[in-house]
Amino acid sequence: MADTLTITDNRTGKTYEVPIADGTIRATDLRQIRAGADDGGLATYDPAFMNTAACRSRITFIDGERGILEYRGYPIEQLAEKSTYLETAYLVIFGELPTEAQLQQWTREITFHTMLHENIKKLMDGYQYDAHPMGAFLSTVGAFSTFYPDAKKIFDEKSRLKQVHRLIAKVPTIAAYAYRHSIGRPYVYPDNDLSFTGNFLNMLFKMTELKYQPNPVLERALDVLFILHADHEQNCSTSAMRSIGSSHADPYSAMAGAAAALYGPLHGGANEAVLRMLNEIGSVANVPAFIKRVKGGEGRLMGFGHRVYKSYDPRAKIIKQTADQVFEVTGKNPLLEIALELERIALQDDYFVTRKLYPNVDFYSGLIYQAMSFPVDMFPVLFAIPRTSGWIAQWEEMLLDPEQKIARPKQIYTGAKRRDYVALASRK
Ligand code: ACO
Repeated sequence: MADTLTITDNRTGKTYEVPIADGTIRATDLRQIRAGADDGGLATYDPAFMNTAACRSRITFIDGERGILEYRGYPIEQLAEKSTYLETAYLVIFGELPTEAQLQQWTREITFHTMLHENIKKLMDGYQYDAHPMGAFLSTVGAFSTFYPDAKKIFDEKSRLKQVHRLIAKVPTIAAYAYRHSIGRPYVYPDNDLSFTGNFLNMLFKMTELKYQPNPVLERALDVLFILHADHEQNCSTSAMRSIGSSHADPYSAMAGAAAALYGPLHGGANEAVLRMLNEIGSVANVPAFIKRVKGGEGRLMGFGHRVYKSYDPRAKIIKQTADQVFEVTGKNPLLEIALELERIALQDDYFVTRKLYPNVDFYSGLIYQAMSFPVDMFPVLFAIPRTSGWIAQWEEMLLDPEQKIARPKQIYTGAKRRDYVALASRK
């Protein structure tokens, strides 16, 4: 017997059979049920998409109860241990791990596209001297659509691939230029002898030395952090990417919107909030009093809890190991002791245990970035660079999905009933 849901409408006594597939019913199947006298049928109301699947996707699997995250079926733990960011980006976008020849070709293409058009420098020079690097990043990504008008050919596979190469390759350069501009230092051109993350560190931190040599431990740590942030299925910025892309805008315009969504403190800004919280707590001795305040409803333990993960965020576990390696090079971030004590107490406290609140990806990432000399303003940009691969993969999947159309949610109208225009002189 097929899986169906039987709905009885108590108003009419009628029953309806609605098919269940993949743990969902189709919202449009509810239209056959009348909602009122003159309506288009019953609809669902789901602000913030708390319980609505808007697409089918083959990219990322998350099981929040069991703390599982997989890209294209590969566990995040294995990718973080064995893969590189560039290889993972290939996997996320194309669906399979590359062969050796494919990886070589992919790396060559990405390396060849790292330079920015010189006019981009002029554009970035126009930002205020203290421009936030994320604001500069997202508007420069948007400006790319004017530099690459061929990107409009979104149904031309070759053109799409070209934009994929450009986007993955150029986002670190845009990010580094945005950073250098914000601190008044000259831009550093890409060094194609270096790895993806090695070159990024070069463009950020090179001073007067002739050749920048990235520290291999920090280079690898950044690569691991990039792997962890490559995709996270239908989050706020990815939904923005799909939604804008559904109007057939070019990928640069769509990605500017996705990056804008990531700019928000509820999405890309949580690790900054963790650092602020740790600074406010100030010392390990103050941790119990802080936890007491949180339990009393005064603020939240930032970096704890997640909409999807109701157990330890698998990315947080990996980040904690990475933090140890980074601190061996940079020296311990003095805030680490406070973070460890917070975690120790919270994980055995009934308040956090019963609510299934565990450390999320942001609990330790800010501490690592700070130890690596990244200013807090750069944190959302460091998130946007690797998430570019996820945004592109999700955008392309949406474009090629025959079930997808321009995104257009319904609303429940709660405004005024029809009324007649009142002349200005007669208004009170
Ligand atoms: N500290 C203290 N209490 C918390 C926390 C927290 N960090 N998170 C949730 N709670 C409590 C809530 O007060 C609520 O308690 P109640 O049932 O007594 O009212 C309960 O746990 C459930 O919380 P919700 O807000 O309903 O959970 P939701 O899934 O909507 O929120 C969120 C998830 C936003 C991540 C939340 O846990 C939070 O604010 N965490 C801190 C901010 C943070 O770290 N954000 C980064 C998320 S990861 C990312 O975006 C990349």
